[in-house]
Amino acid sequence: MKVIGVSGSPIKNSTTDRAVQMVLAATEAHKTEFFKLSDYTVSPCNGCLECITTNRCVIEDDGVMLAEKAFKADVLVIGGYTSYSSLDSRTKAFIERLYPLQHRYGLMAGKLGAAVVTCAIPPDQAGLPSACANGLQAIRDYIQLAGMEWVGGIPIVGNMPCVHCGEVQCQQSGLKMVYDSDATLASVGVRSLEDDPDKIAVLEKLGADITARYYSNWR
Ligand SMILES: Cc1cc2nc3c(=O)[nH]c(=O)nc-3n(C[C@H](O)[C@H](O)[C@H](O)COP(=O)(O)O)c2cc1C
Repeated sequence: MKVIGVSGSPIKNSTTDRAVQMVLAATEAHKTEFFKLSDYTVSPCNGCLECITTNRCVIEDDGVMLAEKAFKADVLVIGGYTSYSSLDSRTKAFIERLYPLQHRYGLMAGKLGAAVVTCAIPPDQAGLPSACANGLQAIRDYIQLAGMEWVGGIPIVGNMPCVHCGEVQCQQSGLKMVYDSDATLASVGVRSLEDDPDKIAVLEKLGADITARYYSNWR
């Protein structure tokens, strides 16, 4: 079983990166590869349809190599974060660049797909957008359209950039928007995935579920 994982977060060793890596490790696959999309150049699809007969994109950047990696893998774990309440643009561009694999043969069909998505807005926060759910839905929609099999998607509440900024006078502080007008860096704190054993267990279960699904399909 070959598994590839991608992370759309540009932050070094980000929550998204570490969550994807935890899922990959838990699959105990023969081969896993992790790609941090900000280390590569991946332009969005131009919609030129030149790939219809070749199954290969004409844009000469790393999107071609990443699509080939996805084609050769059995499982794709997509990690994104949620800028402005929807899937981040690097992850979206990566998904768009898998379009060449769609035509005629459905080259991703039958593979397994899973996702982790980080957001700063806790799920089900009244009156605020469902950022994690939006991001997960976008990835799930791709998995479905590609004819892949969805194994699962995990929302993770990470840190909003404001916790690293510290400008207490900011009129647009996300801390005040998401929590309350008295919220401060100290009252909100910095979250760490490694301090959340329940979330780690859920990520590890997703890895184990991927492996179980792969071998039960294979039998
Ligand atoms: C430009 C930008 C916009 C963001 N907008 C949102 C947002 O609308 N909703 C949200 O929940 N989080 C938002 N975030 C916060 C990210 O989702 C958060 O930083 C992420 O959980 C952290 O993941 P990371 O450590 O993997 O980067 C935004 C972050 C950035 C950089």
